[in-house]
Amino acid sequence: MMSVKVCDTALEAISAIDDNEFIWTHSMAATPRILLNALAIHAKSRQNLTLLQLHTERSEALAAPELFHHLRHRCYFSSTSTRPLMALGEADYVPMFLSELPKLFNSGEQPVDTAVIQVSPPDKHGMCTMGISVEATNAACLVAKKIIAHINPNMPKTHGDGFISYDRFHSVYWQEDELPVHPQENFDEITQAIGKNVAKLINDGDCLQMGIGAIPDAVLACLTDRKDLGVHTEMFSDGLLELVDTGVITNRMKRIHPGKIVTGFAVGTQKLYDFVDDNPQVVFLDIEYVNDTSIIKRNDNVAAINSALQVDLSGQVCADSIGTSIYSGVGGQMDFIRGASLSKGGKAVIALPSTAKHGQLSRIVTTLDSGAGVVTTRAHVQYIVTEYGIANLRNKSLKERAKALIEIAHPDFRDELTESCHKIWGINL
Ligand code: COA
Repeated sequence: MMSVKVCDTALEAISAIDDNEFIWTHSMAATPRILLNALAIHAKSRQNLTLLQLHTERSEALAAPELFHHLRHRCYFSSTSTRPLMALGEADYVPMFLSELPKLFNSGEQPVDTAVIQVSPPDKHGMCTMGISVEATNAACLVAKKIIAHINPNMPKTHGDGFISYDRFHSVYWQEDELPVHPQENFDEITQAIGKNVAKLINDGDCLQMGIGAIPDAVLACLTDRKDLGVHTEMFSDGLLELVDTGVITNRMKRIHPGKIVTGFAVGTQKLYDFVDDNPQVVFLDIEYVNDTSIIKRNDNVAAINSALQVDLSGQVCADSIGTSIYSGVGGQMDFIRGASLSKGGKAVIALPSTAKHGQLSRIVTTLDSGAGVVTTRAHVQYIVTEYGIANLRNKSLKERAKALIEIAHPDFRDELTESCHKIWGINL
Protein backbone atom coordinates (compact mmCIF):
# COMPACT_ATOMS: atom_id res chain seq x y z
CA MET A 1 0.00 0.00 0.00
CA MET A 2 1.21 3.50 -0.89
CA SER A 3 2.00 5.63 2.15
CA VAL A 4 0.17 8.91 2.59
CA LYS A 5 2.37 12.00 2.45
CA VAL A 6 1.51 14.29 5.35
CA CYS A 7 2.46 17.82 4.29
CA ASP A 8 3.41 20.85 6.39
CA THR A 9 1.96 23.28 3.87
CA ALA A 10 -0.86 23.27 1.34
CA LEU A 11 1.69 24.16 -1.35
CA GLU A 12 3.71 21.04 -0.57
CA ALA A 13 0.55 18.93 -0.89
CA ILE A 14 -0.54 20.48 -4.16
CA SER A 15 2.96 20.23 -5.67
CA ALA A 16 2.18 16.61 -6.55
CA ILE A 17 0.31 17.99 -9.57
CA ASP A 18 2.30 17.72 -12.81
CA ASP A 19 2.02 19.36 -16.23
CA ASN A 20 -0.88 18.36 -18.52
CA GLU A 21 -3.12 17.07 -15.73
CA PHE A 22 -6.90 17.04 -15.55
CA ILE A 23 -7.74 18.06 -11.98
CA TRP A 24 -11.16 17.64 -10.40
CA THR A 25 -11.95 19.98 -7.56
CA HIS A 26 -14.47 19.24 -4.85
CA SER A 27 -17.14 21.91 -5.33
CA MET A 28 -20.02 23.82 -3.74
CA ALA A 29 -19.53 24.56 -0.02
CA ALA A 30 -16.79 21.90 0.18
CA THR A 31 -14.54 23.73 -2.30
CA PRO A 32 -11.04 23.15 -0.85
CA ARG A 33 -10.08 26.81 -0.92
CA ILE A 34 -6.79 26.40 0.93
CA LEU A 35 -5.57 23.83 -1.61
CA LEU A 36 -6.92 25.89 -4.52
CA ASN A 37 -5.11 28.99 -3.23
CA ALA A 38 -1.95 26.88 -3.20
CA LEU A 39 -2.76 25.65 -6.72
CA ALA A 40 -2.91 29.29 -7.83
CA ILE A 41 0.77 29.53 -6.83
CA HIS A 42 1.88 26.10 -8.02
CA ALA A 43 0.15 26.42 -11.41
CA LYS A 44 2.44 29.31 -12.39
CA SER A 45 5.27 26.79 -12.75
CA ARG A 46 3.10 24.21 -14.58
CA GLN A 47 1.77 23.94 -18.12
CA ASN A 48 -1.54 22.84 -19.58
CA LEU A 49 -3.54 22.17 -16.43
CA THR A 50 -7.32 21.78 -16.69
CA LEU A 51 -9.45 22.36 -13.61
CA LEU A 52 -12.73 20.43 -13.86
CA GLN A 53 -15.38 21.88 -11.57
CA LEU A 54 -18.96 22.61 -10.64
CA HIS A 55 -19.85 25.78 -8.77
CA THR A 56 -16.83 26.59 -6.62
CA GLU A 57 -16.87 28.89 -3.60
CA ARG A 58 -14.09 31.31 -2.63
CA SER A 59 -11.88 30.24 -5.54
CA GLU A 60 -11.06 33.77 -6.78
CA ALA A 61 -7.28 33.24 -6.59
CA LEU A 62 -7.51 30.88 -9.55
CA ALA A 63 -9.08 33.58 -11.73
CA ALA A 64 -5.88 35.66 -11.79
CA PRO A 65 -4.83 36.71 -15.34
CA GLU A 66 -1.25 35.43 -14.80
CA LEU A 67 -2.68 31.90 -14.71
CA PHE A 68 -4.41 32.10 -18.10
CA HIS A 69 -1.54 30.38 -19.93
CA HIS A 70 -1.07 27.72 -17.27
CA LEU A 71 -4.51 26.60 -16.14
CA ARG A 72 -7.82 26.38 -17.99
CA HIS A 73 -11.15 26.17 -16.14
CA ARG A 74 -13.60 23.59 -17.49
CA CYS A 75 -16.91 24.32 -15.80
CA TYR A 76 -20.01 22.16 -15.56
CA PHE A 77 -21.60 25.00 -13.57
CA SER A 78 -20.35 28.55 -13.17
CA SER A 79 -19.44 30.51 -10.04
CA THR A 80 -18.74 34.14 -9.26
CA SER A 81 -15.06 33.59 -10.05
CA THR A 82 -15.50 31.65 -13.32
CA ARG A 83 -18.43 33.66 -14.75
CA PRO A 84 -16.24 36.67 -15.67
CA LEU A 85 -13.59 34.32 -17.11
CA MET A 86 -16.18 32.73 -19.38
CA ALA A 87 -17.24 36.18 -20.54
CA LEU A 88 -13.58 36.84 -21.45
CA GLY A 89 -13.23 33.49 -23.22
CA GLU A 90 -10.73 32.38 -20.56
CA ALA A 91 -12.87 29.55 -19.12
CA ASP A 92 -15.00 26.90 -20.81
CA TYR A 93 -18.59 26.00 -20.05
CA VAL A 94 -19.79 22.44 -20.63
CA PRO A 95 -23.60 22.12 -20.60
CA MET A 96 -24.45 18.79 -19.00
CA PHE A 97 -27.04 17.17 -16.76
CA LEU A 98 -25.47 16.82 -13.33
CA SER A 99 -26.50 13.15 -13.27
CA GLU A 100 -24.32 12.53 -16.35
CA LEU A 101 -21.10 13.89 -14.90
CA PRO A 102 -20.16 10.81 -12.84
CA LYS A 103 -20.75 8.68 -15.96
CA LEU A 104 -18.13 10.73 -17.81
CA PHE A 105 -15.61 9.85 -15.13
CA ASN A 106 -16.63 6.18 -14.79
CA SER A 107 -16.40 5.60 -18.53
CA GLY A 108 -13.01 7.29 -18.83
CA GLU A 109 -14.45 9.73 -21.36
CA GLN A 110 -13.19 12.47 -19.07
CA PRO A 111 -9.95 11.42 -17.38
CA VAL A 112 -9.17 12.65 -13.88
CA ASP A 113 -5.49 12.68 -12.95
CA THR A 114 -5.85 14.34 -9.57
CA ALA A 115 -8.83 14.99 -7.32
CA VAL A 116 -8.41 17.87 -4.88
CA ILE A 117 -10.85 17.53 -2.02
CA GLN A 118 -11.75 18.67 1.49
CA VAL A 119 -12.71 16.02 4.03
CA SER A 120 -13.62 15.39 7.65
CA PRO A 121 -10.81 13.90 9.81
CA PRO A 122 -10.37 10.12 9.77
CA ASP A 123 -12.48 8.20 12.30
CA LYS A 124 -11.33 5.20 14.33
CA HIS A 125 -11.69 3.05 11.21
CA GLY A 126 -9.48 5.36 9.15
CA MET A 127 -12.45 6.70 7.19
CA CYS A 128 -12.83 10.35 6.22
CA THR A 129 -15.98 11.74 4.57
CA MET A 130 -16.62 14.21 1.77
CA GLY A 131 -18.79 16.07 4.26
CA ILE A 132 -21.40 18.46 2.93
CA SER A 133 -20.79 17.77 -0.77
CA VAL A 134 -20.68 14.39 -2.44
CA GLU A 135 -22.10 15.46 -5.87
CA ALA A 136 -19.68 14.20 -8.58
CA THR A 137 -16.66 14.18 -6.27
CA ASN A 138 -17.30 10.61 -5.21
CA ALA A 139 -17.13 9.49 -8.86
CA ALA A 140 -14.03 11.59 -9.53
CA CYS A 141 -12.23 10.07 -6.52
CA LEU A 142 -13.05 6.54 -7.69
CA VAL A 143 -11.08 7.07 -10.92
CA ALA A 144 -8.48 9.67 -9.91
CA LYS A 145 -4.86 8.53 -10.13
CA LYS A 146 -4.11 10.57 -7.03
CA ILE A 147 -6.17 12.37 -4.41
CA ILE A 148 -4.92 15.39 -2.52
CA ALA A 149 -6.96 16.08 0.60
CA HIS A 150 -7.35 19.00 2.93
CA ILE A 151 -8.40 17.49 6.24
CA ASN A 152 -10.54 20.08 7.97
CA PRO A 153 -11.79 19.39 11.51
CA ASN A 154 -14.71 21.74 10.75
CA MET A 155 -15.95 19.56 7.90
CA PRO A 156 -18.99 17.60 9.18
CA LYS A 157 -18.80 13.84 9.07
CA THR A 158 -21.74 12.82 6.89
CA HIS A 159 -23.47 9.56 6.11
CA GLY A 160 -23.91 8.04 2.67
CA ASP A 161 -21.53 7.61 -0.27
CA GLY A 162 -18.95 10.15 0.84
CA PHE A 163 -16.83 7.85 3.01
CA ILE A 164 -13.26 7.60 1.77
CA SER A 165 -10.39 5.73 3.32
CA TYR A 166 -7.44 7.82 4.50
CA ASP A 167 -5.19 5.29 2.73
CA ARG A 168 -6.56 6.43 -0.64
CA PHE A 169 -4.85 9.82 -0.30
CA HIS A 170 -1.61 10.65 -2.04
CA SER A 171 -0.98 13.74 0.12
CA VAL A 172 -2.83 15.37 2.96
CA TYR A 173 -2.70 18.77 4.59
CA TRP A 174 -4.41 19.37 7.97
CA GLN A 175 -5.81 22.77 8.87
CA GLU A 176 -8.91 24.06 10.59
CA ASP A 177 -10.85 26.35 8.24
CA GLU A 178 -14.30 27.92 8.33
CA LEU A 179 -16.73 26.55 5.78
CA PRO A 180 -18.47 29.10 3.55
CA VAL A 181 -21.81 30.09 5.04
CA HIS A 182 -24.81 31.51 3.26
CA PRO A 183 -27.12 33.23 5.73
CA GLN A 184 -30.80 32.66 5.15
CA GLU A 185 -32.18 35.63 3.24
CA ASN A 186 -35.10 37.75 4.38
CA PHE A 187 -37.60 37.20 1.63
CA ASP A 188 -38.90 40.27 -0.17
CA GLU A 189 -42.62 40.57 -0.91
CA ILE A 190 -42.29 39.08 -4.38
CA THR A 191 -40.39 36.03 -3.19
CA GLN A 192 -42.93 35.51 -0.41
CA ALA A 193 -45.82 35.71 -2.89
CA ILE A 194 -44.10 33.15 -5.15
CA GLY A 195 -43.53 30.92 -2.12
CA LYS A 196 -47.22 31.08 -1.22
CA ASN A 197 -48.29 30.27 -4.77
CA VAL A 198 -45.97 27.27 -5.06
CA ALA A 199 -47.05 26.05 -1.62
CA LYS A 200 -50.62 25.75 -2.98
CA LEU A 201 -49.34 22.88 -5.12
CA ILE A 202 -47.75 20.96 -2.23
CA ASN A 203 -49.85 18.36 -0.41
CA ASP A 204 -49.33 16.26 2.70
CA GLY A 205 -47.01 13.35 1.95
CA ASP A 206 -45.26 14.98 -1.06
CA CYS A 207 -41.57 14.25 -1.63
CA LEU A 208 -39.69 17.50 -2.24
CA GLN A 209 -36.76 18.52 -4.38
CA MET A 210 -35.62 22.11 -4.08
CA GLY A 211 -33.36 23.92 -6.52
CA ILE A 212 -31.04 26.87 -6.04
CA GLY A 213 -31.94 30.38 -4.85
CA ALA A 214 -34.21 32.10 -2.35
CA ILE A 215 -37.49 30.78 -3.80
CA PRO A 216 -37.19 27.19 -2.48
CA ASP A 217 -36.69 28.47 1.09
CA ALA A 218 -39.65 30.84 0.67
CA VAL A 219 -41.77 27.84 -0.37
CA LEU A 220 -40.61 25.81 2.61
CA ALA A 221 -41.54 28.67 4.95
CA CYS A 222 -45.17 28.25 3.77
CA LEU A 223 -45.35 24.52 4.48
CA THR A 224 -45.48 24.59 8.28
CA ASP A 225 -48.99 23.07 8.40
CA ARG A 226 -48.27 20.13 6.07
CA LYS A 227 -47.77 16.58 7.28
CA ASP A 228 -45.33 13.82 6.44
CA LEU A 229 -43.32 15.56 3.76
CA GLY A 230 -40.31 13.74 2.40
CA VAL A 231 -37.09 14.98 0.82
CA HIS A 232 -35.10 13.54 -2.08
CA THR A 233 -33.14 16.44 -3.51
CA GLU A 234 -29.97 17.40 -5.30
CA MET A 235 -29.21 20.08 -2.71
CA PHE A 236 -30.72 21.46 0.42
CA SER A 237 -30.43 24.50 2.58
CA ASP A 238 -31.58 25.92 5.91
CA GLY A 239 -35.24 26.14 4.94
CA LEU A 240 -35.66 22.45 5.71
CA LEU A 241 -34.44 22.66 9.29
CA GLU A 242 -37.58 24.14 10.85
CA LEU A 243 -39.74 21.58 9.04
CA VAL A 244 -37.58 18.77 10.40
CA ASP A 245 -37.64 20.25 13.92
CA THR A 246 -41.42 20.63 13.91
CA GLY A 247 -42.04 17.14 12.55
CA VAL A 248 -43.45 18.29 9.19
CA ILE A 249 -40.70 16.43 7.36
CA THR A 250 -40.82 12.80 8.44
CA ASN A 251 -39.86 11.05 5.16
CA ARG A 252 -42.38 8.42 6.29
CA MET A 253 -44.22 8.23 2.95
CA LYS A 254 -41.12 7.74 0.82
CA ARG A 255 -40.86 4.46 -1.03
CA ILE A 256 -37.10 4.61 -1.34
CA HIS A 257 -34.96 5.64 1.62
CA PRO A 258 -38.00 5.98 3.92
CA GLY A 259 -37.19 7.93 7.06
CA LYS A 260 -34.15 9.58 5.42
CA ILE A 261 -33.41 12.87 3.70
CA VAL A 262 -31.50 12.07 0.50
CA THR A 263 -29.27 14.75 -0.99
CA GLY A 264 -26.16 15.34 -3.09
CA PHE A 265 -24.88 18.42 -1.27
CA ALA A 266 -25.86 21.07 1.29
CA VAL A 267 -25.17 24.79 1.27
CA GLY A 268 -26.27 27.13 4.05
CA THR A 269 -25.44 28.28 7.55
CA GLN A 270 -23.34 26.70 10.29
CA LYS A 271 -26.63 25.53 11.84
CA LEU A 272 -27.23 23.43 8.72
CA TYR A 273 -23.71 22.02 8.81
CA ASP A 274 -24.16 21.13 12.50
CA PHE A 275 -27.47 19.44 11.65
CA VAL A 276 -25.94 17.12 9.04
CA ASP A 277 -22.89 16.31 11.18
CA ASP A 278 -22.93 12.60 12.00
CA ASN A 279 -26.69 12.58 11.39
CA PRO A 280 -27.85 9.23 10.02
CA GLN A 281 -31.19 10.84 9.07
CA VAL A 282 -29.42 12.61 6.19
CA VAL A 283 -27.69 10.59 3.49
CA PHE A 284 -25.40 12.28 0.98
CA LEU A 285 -25.32 10.10 -2.13
CA ASP A 286 -23.56 10.09 -5.49
CA ILE A 287 -25.33 12.50 -7.83
CA GLU A 288 -25.61 9.89 -10.60
CA TYR A 289 -27.97 8.05 -8.25
CA VAL A 290 -29.72 10.98 -6.55
CA ASN A 291 -30.59 12.63 -9.87
CA ASP A 292 -31.39 9.45 -11.79
CA THR A 293 -34.94 9.80 -13.15
CA SER A 294 -35.53 6.07 -12.62
CA ILE A 295 -34.72 6.56 -8.92
CA ILE A 296 -36.58 9.87 -8.49
CA LYS A 297 -39.78 8.44 -9.94
CA ARG A 298 -39.86 5.56 -7.45
CA ASN A 299 -41.17 7.96 -4.81
CA ASP A 300 -44.81 8.97 -5.30
CA ASN A 301 -45.91 12.61 -5.37
CA VAL A 302 -42.49 14.05 -6.11
CA ALA A 303 -42.66 17.86 -6.18
CA ALA A 304 -39.66 19.36 -7.95
CA ILE A 305 -39.27 23.12 -7.41
CA ASN A 306 -36.72 24.90 -9.56
CA SER A 307 -36.18 28.38 -10.91
CA ALA A 308 -35.44 30.10 -14.21
CA LEU A 309 -34.08 33.25 -15.76
CA GLN A 310 -36.57 33.48 -18.65
CA VAL A 311 -39.58 31.55 -19.98
CA ASP A 312 -40.99 32.06 -23.45
CA LEU A 313 -44.67 31.93 -24.36
CA SER A 314 -44.36 28.37 -25.61
CA GLY A 315 -42.97 27.23 -22.23
CA GLN A 316 -39.24 26.93 -23.04
CA VAL A 317 -37.28 27.52 -19.84
CA CYS A 318 -33.91 29.28 -19.90
CA ALA A 319 -31.99 28.72 -16.67
CA ASP A 320 -28.26 28.69 -17.42
CA SER A 321 -27.64 31.89 -19.36
CA ILE A 322 -28.76 35.46 -19.87
CA GLY A 323 -28.70 35.57 -23.65
CA THR A 324 -25.28 34.25 -24.58
CA SER A 325 -23.73 35.09 -21.18
CA ILE A 326 -23.43 31.95 -19.11
CA TYR A 327 -24.89 32.58 -15.68
CA SER A 328 -25.05 29.20 -13.94
CA GLY A 329 -25.46 25.70 -15.36
CA VAL A 330 -27.88 22.96 -16.30
CA GLY A 331 -27.44 21.26 -12.93
CA GLY A 332 -30.17 18.85 -11.93
CA GLN A 333 -33.13 20.86 -13.16
CA MET A 334 -34.05 18.56 -16.03
CA ASP A 335 -33.25 15.45 -14.01
CA PHE A 336 -35.85 16.44 -11.44
CA ILE A 337 -38.39 17.99 -13.81
CA ARG A 338 -38.47 14.70 -15.71
CA GLY A 339 -38.24 12.52 -12.59
CA ALA A 340 -41.15 14.39 -10.97
CA SER A 341 -43.26 14.06 -14.13
CA LEU A 342 -42.63 10.31 -14.14
CA SER A 343 -43.52 9.93 -10.46
CA LYS A 344 -47.10 8.91 -9.63
CA GLY A 345 -48.84 12.15 -8.61
CA GLY A 346 -45.63 14.12 -9.29
CA LYS A 347 -45.42 17.83 -10.08
CA ALA A 348 -42.69 19.73 -11.87
CA VAL A 349 -42.59 23.39 -10.91
CA ILE A 350 -40.55 26.27 -12.29
CA ALA A 351 -40.97 29.29 -10.03
CA LEU A 352 -39.59 32.71 -10.91
CA PRO A 353 -40.25 36.40 -10.33
CA SER A 354 -42.24 37.90 -13.20
CA THR A 355 -39.58 40.57 -13.81
CA ALA A 356 -35.83 41.19 -13.55
CA LYS A 357 -33.75 44.34 -13.18
CA HIS A 358 -36.08 46.01 -10.69
CA GLY A 359 -39.15 45.52 -12.81
CA GLN A 360 -37.64 46.82 -16.05
CA LEU A 361 -37.62 43.47 -17.86
CA SER A 362 -40.30 40.80 -18.09
CA ARG A 363 -38.95 37.29 -17.50
CA ILE A 364 -41.92 35.94 -19.40
CA VAL A 365 -41.05 36.79 -22.97
CA THR A 366 -42.47 36.19 -26.41
CA THR A 367 -39.25 34.55 -27.57
CA LEU A 368 -36.13 33.82 -25.54
CA ASP A 369 -33.19 36.21 -25.89
CA SER A 370 -30.88 35.28 -28.71
CA GLY A 371 -28.43 32.66 -27.41
CA ALA A 372 -30.46 31.85 -24.27
CA GLY A 373 -29.95 28.25 -23.11
CA VAL A 374 -33.05 26.07 -22.91
CA VAL A 375 -32.62 23.87 -19.85
CA THR A 376 -36.21 22.58 -19.60
CA THR A 377 -37.85 22.06 -22.96
CA ARG A 378 -41.45 22.98 -23.68
CA ALA A 379 -42.33 19.29 -23.82
CA HIS A 380 -40.96 18.70 -20.31
CA VAL A 381 -42.34 21.80 -18.61
CA GLN A 382 -45.41 21.61 -16.39
CA TYR A 383 -46.14 24.36 -13.83
CA ILE A 384 -44.77 27.89 -14.16
CA VAL A 385 -45.34 30.01 -11.07
CA THR A 386 -44.79 33.74 -10.51
CA GLU A 387 -45.98 36.14 -7.81
CA TYR A 388 -49.12 36.57 -9.96
CA GLY A 389 -50.21 32.95 -10.00
CA ILE A 390 -49.80 29.46 -11.40
CA ALA A 391 -49.86 28.39 -15.05
CA ASN A 392 -50.19 24.67 -15.70
CA LEU A 393 -48.87 24.15 -19.22
CA ARG A 394 -49.38 20.39 -19.44
CA ASN A 395 -51.62 19.38 -22.32
CA LYS A 396 -51.98 22.99 -23.37
CA SER A 397 -51.62 24.14 -26.97
CA LEU A 398 -49.24 26.96 -27.85
CA LYS A 399 -52.17 29.35 -27.82
CA GLU A 400 -53.42 28.12 -24.45
CA ARG A 401 -49.89 28.32 -23.03
CA ALA A 402 -49.38 31.87 -24.22
CA LYS A 403 -52.68 32.89 -22.61
CA ALA A 404 -51.87 31.14 -19.31
CA LEU A 405 -48.37 32.63 -19.17
CA ILE A 406 -49.50 36.16 -19.98
CA GLU A 407 -51.98 35.89 -17.11
CA ILE A 408 -49.11 35.37 -14.65
CA ALA A 409 -46.76 37.93 -16.27
CA HIS A 410 -46.34 41.32 -14.63
CA PRO A 411 -49.39 43.50 -15.50
CA ASP A 412 -47.09 46.16 -17.03
CA PHE A 413 -46.05 43.71 -19.74
CA ARG A 414 -49.28 41.85 -20.47
CA ASP A 415 -50.51 44.08 -23.35
CA GLU A 416 -47.08 44.11 -24.97
CA LEU A 417 -46.86 40.30 -24.72
CA THR A 418 -50.37 39.85 -26.16
CA GLU A 419 -49.51 42.08 -29.10
CA SER A 420 -46.14 40.50 -29.84
CA CYS A 421 -47.63 37.03 -29.45
CA HIS A 422 -49.85 37.86 -32.39
CA LYS A 423 -47.04 39.47 -34.38
CA ILE A 424 -44.36 36.82 -33.76
CA TRP A 425 -46.26 33.58 -33.14
CA GLY A 426 -49.26 34.51 -35.32
CA ILE A 427 -51.48 33.69 -32.35
CA ASN A 428 -54.57 35.80 -31.64
CA LEU A 429 -55.45 35.58 -27.97
N1 COA B 1 -32.60 39.20 -18.04
C1 COA B 1 -31.56 39.84 -17.47
N2 COA B 1 -31.12 39.61 -16.22
C2 COA B 1 -31.76 38.68 -15.53
C3 COA B 1 -32.84 37.95 -16.06
C4 COA B 1 -33.27 38.25 -17.36
N3 COA B 1 -34.28 37.61 -17.90
N4 COA B 1 -33.27 37.08 -15.13
C5 COA B 1 -32.50 37.23 -14.06
N5 COA B 1 -31.60 38.21 -14.29
C6 COA B 1 -30.59 38.68 -13.34
C7 COA B 1 -31.25 39.04 -12.01
O1 COA B 1 -31.69 40.39 -12.00
C8 COA B 1 -30.11 38.79 -11.05
O2 COA B 1 -29.20 39.85 -11.15
P1 COA B 1 -28.60 40.55 -9.82
O3 COA B 1 -27.79 39.44 -9.20
O4 COA B 1 -27.79 41.67 -10.38
O5 COA B 1 -29.79 40.94 -9.01
C9 COA B 1 -29.41 37.58 -11.66
O6 COA B 1 -29.75 37.56 -13.04
C10 COA B 1 -29.83 36.24 -11.04
O7 COA B 1 -31.22 36.09 -11.10
P2 COA B 1 -32.00 35.41 -9.88
O8 COA B 1 -33.39 35.22 -10.32
O9 COA B 1 -31.75 36.17 -8.62
O10 COA B 1 -31.26 34.02 -9.78
P3 COA B 1 -31.39 32.90 -8.66
O11 COA B 1 -30.26 33.03 -7.73
O12 COA B 1 -32.75 32.84 -8.08
O13 COA B 1 -31.14 31.60 -9.54
C11 COA B 1 -31.24 30.35 -11.58
C12 COA B 1 -31.97 31.31 -10.64
C13 COA B 1 -32.16 30.01 -12.69
C14 COA B 1 -29.98 31.01 -12.12
C15 COA B 1 -30.87 29.08 -10.74
O14 COA B 1 -32.04 28.49 -10.26
C16 COA B 1 -30.11 28.08 -11.58
O15 COA B 1 -28.92 28.18 -11.69
N6 COA B 1 -30.81 27.08 -12.18
C17 COA B 1 -30.20 26.08 -13.06
C18 COA B 1 -29.80 24.84 -12.34
C19 COA B 1 -30.91 24.25 -11.57
O16 COA B 1 -32.08 24.57 -11.69
N7 COA B 1 -30.57 23.30 -10.74
C20 COA B 1 -31.60 22.66 -9.93
C21 COA B 1 -31.14 21.68 -9.01
S1 COA B 1 -30.11 22.37 -7.71
